[in-house]
Amino acid sequence: MFFRVRHQKMMHVYLVVFVLLSVLVVLGAYIAYHVLLRQQHFQIQSAVSKLMHSDNINRRFKAAAFQYHHNSVPLLKDQKPLVIYNRVPKTGSTSFVNVAYDLHARNSFRVLHVNVTGNSHLLSLYDQFRFIDNTTQWLLPAFYHGHFAYIDFERYGYKKPHYIQLLRKPLDRLVSYYYFLRYGDDYRPHLVRKKHMDSATTFDECVDRGGPDCQANLLWLQIPFLCGQSADCWTPGSEWALRQAKRNVLEKYTLVGVTEKLTQFLQMLELVIPGDMFRNASEHFQHSSKSHLRKTAKKYPVSRKTVKKFHDSTVWQMENELYTFVAREFAFAYAKQFPNVLSKDWKSADELPPPNFHYEKIYPKPLQQQKKNTKHT
Ligand SMILES: *[C@@H]1O[C@H](CO)[C@@H](O)[C@H](O)[C@H]1NC(C)=O
Ligand SMILES: *[C@@H]1O[C@H](CO)[C@@H](O)[C@H](O)[C@H]1NC(C)=O
Ligand SMILES: *[C@@H]1O[C@H](CO)[C@@H](O)[C@H](O)[C@H]1NC(C)=O
Repeated sequence: MFFRVRHQKMMHVYLVVFVLLSVLVVLGAYIAYHVLLRQQHFQIQSAVSKLMHSDNINRRFKAAAFQYHHNSVPLLKDQKPLVIYNRVPKTGSTSFVNVAYDLHARNSFRVLHVNVTGNSHLLSLYDQFRFIDNTTQWLLPAFYHGHFAYIDFERYGYKKPHYIQLLRKPLDRLVSYYYFLRYGDDYRPHLVRKKHMDSATTFDECVDRGGPDCQANLLWLQIPFLCGQSADCWTPGSEWALRQAKRNVLEKYTLVGVTEKLTQFLQMLELVIPGDMFRNASEHFQHSSKSHLRKTAKKYPVSRKTVKKFHDSTVWQMENELYTFVAREFAFAYAKQFPNVLSKDWKSADELPPPNFHYEKIYPKPLQQQKKNTKHT
């Protein structure tokens, strides 16, 4: 009897302790949950306020709001033009770059050569990032040139710069490069080139012997330069690389011209690169003493047999497809810009025709017109 009563009492105590413990556990979980939530909320809030106070964004918002209230178009004045010319060797790039060096003082921009170690056209991922991060920090307009394949700024979350490029007929370029290595050029005539010892071999003879300096695969250069830093860009004959190169021409490059039409290329640059960086470029080029294309010192004409041999190769056909694509695009854009260029001797940007479009039905109405309207009603 006594034992049973005692046992019941114990049961009660256990029950109370159990209920108390359960309440404590539930309460603890509830408090922990709210503390975590608050902390997260605080983190989000501080991130948002950081973003809002980052001076760039804030300044632009403020500027845009100010402009909006004063009925004018918001201009993002702090965006400096960044022009990148990833020059392909032996395409007349030195003549073009000299124009930039001649103009830089008058048109207030910086010119820099990007010297990639070991003549490699490829950069490691981190070097690509370093290059992008550095080039986008300058506060002055800048023109960078160097022998490297296209680097995609947007891939790393940066605004894309003004990429420009010049292409040349693929076989002409290779033959020019072949003789350049043997004889040098009229630009640095006394420099002894690395294949100087092999000067006696003409390009035709090299092709007949199947020499290493005149293989069709060596034509594979303009496609990869426009395609980019991916492995497949550098696989001779890759259909994907050709497609990617064409896509980049249309989507990533501001202007791609051809060596054979350098003056027209400069005329177009005067118009499409902001900040007047190329002001007077075409006129300067036509009148300056350096304007002749840098010529390889000695060059033998290539036989029809050699030409045919190259034209039969897939790599030539693909490189030529890119070249003709670019030449067609450029001629098309140029003809649209200067429709009267043949009938009238076009001189300078001052004579440009007015735009073929205008704005209308503009809201909100300009302030004066608003006042007039309210007076009448
Ligand atoms: C690039 O830099 C190396 C090392 O400083 C130099 O030897 C080479 O001449 C430079 N290349 C050009 C094209 O200036
Ligand atoms: C960019 O690189 C140059 C040369 O290394 C250096 O002098 C300059 O300070 C760098 N600029 C920025 C913004 O990182
Ligand atoms: C344009 O370039 C030519 C040739 O270098 C020069 O004579 C002329 O003064 C330049 N014009 C302007 C407006 O800078």
